[in-house]
Amino acid sequence: MERIKKIVKEQTKILHAHAKELAPAIALAVAIAIIATIFADALYQPKKLLKRGFQIELSADGKPLVKKEEKPVDLGELMKLADISRGEKIFKKCASCHTAGKNEAIKVGPNLFGIIGRPRASFAGFAYSDAMKAKGGNWDLASINQFITKPKDFIPGTKMAFPGLKKPQDRADVILFLESKK
Ligand code: HEC
Repeated sequence: MERIKKIVKEQTKILHAHAKELAPAIALAVAIAIIATIFADALYQPKKLLKRGFQIELSADGKPLVKKEEKPVDLGELMKLADISRGEKIFKKCASCHTAGKNEAIKVGPNLFGIIGRPRASFAGFAYSDAMKAKGGNWDLASINQFITKPKDFIPGTKMAFPGLKKPQDRADVILFLESKK
């Protein structure tokens, strides 16, 4: 019995001594575990952000655009509130591709002087897409509004490479500006 006790005592002593030796190794293992957890989190982050990125839409001025239920907005009402000087400013987005003054040159897109009431795809000398040529009819306020909301929805296959104006009032403002160009 005494012998066994002695052995246990000795073994415990040895263990204690080793524990001291092992301490740095244990500390290192714990540190690695913590670092690994942090890295795993960091690797996970972009996925979360990506998901969020889809939910937040930015408007043209870079502010988050809260997605509301799409309500049909009455163009007539918006036209009453429309502001021509704002429209002129918004037209700057179109002006990289369009002129709107009389006898002004074709750029990437056709000249838009007198566009309201003008037959579609009718500006002499401009090479329209087949899709635009096939659309037919005249441009009025409502169809310009629809077209500049999302050009590729109104005329699939159009070569107007413009994503569209998201805000209904922006569209009404720019339409009022175009209406004055006649
Ligand atoms: C990146 C260049 C680009 C921008 C920006 C652009 N357009 Fe266009 N637009 C075009 C092209 C190209 C066409 C001809 C499309 C076709 O033939 O399919 C066109 C066609 C049109 C037409 C039809 C013209 C016609 O004679 O039938 C209208 C109206 C129009 N654009 C309005 C606008 C307005 C308003 C804006 C700004 C809110 C705008 N566009 C921004 C390139 C552009």
